[in-house]
Amino acid sequence: MSQTTAQSIQELTNTALTELAEIDAPEALEQWRVSWLGRRGGLTAILRGLSQLALEQRRELGALGNQAKTTLEENLERRAREISQARLARAADQERIDVTLPGRPVATGRLHPTTQVVREITDAFVAMGFSVVEGPEVEWDYYNFERLNIPQGHPARDMWNTLWVDYVNEAGQQPMLLRTHTSPMQARVMEQTSPPVRVVVPGKCYRYEATDATHEWHFYQVEGLAVDAGITFADLKGTLYEFARRLFGAERKVRFRCDYFPFVEPGVDMSIDCFACQGTTKDNGGSGNSSDNGGGCRICRDSGWIEIMGAGMVHPQVLAGVGYDPEQYTGFAFGLGPERIAMLKYGIDDIRHFYSNDLRFLRQF
Ligand code: PHE
Repeated sequence: MSQTTAQSIQELTNTALTELAEIDAPEALEQWRVSWLGRRGGLTAILRGLSQLALEQRRELGALGNQAKTTLEENLERRAREISQARLARAADQERIDVTLPGRPVATGRLHPTTQVVREITDAFVAMGFSVVEGPEVEWDYYNFERLNIPQGHPARDMWNTLWVDYVNEAGQQPMLLRTHTSPMQARVMEQTSPPVRVVVPGKCYRYEATDATHEWHFYQVEGLAVDAGITFADLKGTLYEFARRLFGAERKVRFRCDYFPFVEPGVDMSIDCFACQGTTKDNGGSGNSSDNGGGCRICRDSGWIEIMGAGMVHPQVLAGVGYDPEQYTGFAFGLGPERIAMLKYGIDDIRHFYSNDLRFLRQF
């Protein structure tokens, strides 16, 4: 071993400190401590070498050696602190939240277009003093037909293609069905209340029916019923015209024509001018020939008009059937199809879009 001198102590200290300054991992710090300050470390070896020296030198170099030891220990501690602080700072840096970043959008659901339109329709009538009630989708023949002046075997039953529930009672009858319209609620509501009656009834209906662009086997209806002393056909027209204006704008044209429903007399259908072809077909002076007018219009079937509801004055038989005196009370009823209304409002050309669950369609509303 080479001779220990003041210079060699100084050199060792310098080398150790230079090495220390380059360390930035705690594990490397421990290695450094072992190799310089450990029992077999560089400084320990130097101090041990002092024993061979004369007393005078031993004292002098011993003091230097102890000083060097203190210096290395102090520096080791400082470096350890620096390293752990740097680590904390780095971690904090990585975890910091940038509050200026835009948030991640949450996927929200939405109302089905039919629901939206049902609400618009009922809102329009609520604004005119009607209240909203709902009824059962599985219905008795009694309410769906009989109370509506359509007895067993009556040819008018052919107007409703019916899905019967597979249930036969003791009398051998099949009295239960999926309601073919919301009209059964007319009798149900009147049974429960006395005049004045003003209700709208939104709900799902079912028919045993082939589907096409304007027919579904299940669909919604909104029924309306107003009964009181002195209600006339003028009230019917005024109310329904006001409804058409609220939903489609003041410029909309409406048309009433005679129609037949067993539970109203007189009965009408109400139409709105066609949104798709702007009424350019037959009835409004168009040629009515599909090949002449650029394809014609399958929504209005080349007529220029779309029937949106059936209506009429409540038949005296229906009033009498629920115990109302038809001499004292009169009323009007109507039934309309929200899907048709939605098709008008949004320019949808096929009713089958509504219930085919295609999100590309549904997300547009
Ligand atoms: N319930 C009839 C239908 O489904 C519509 C209607 C309701 C007609 C009320 C007149 C009065 O076709």
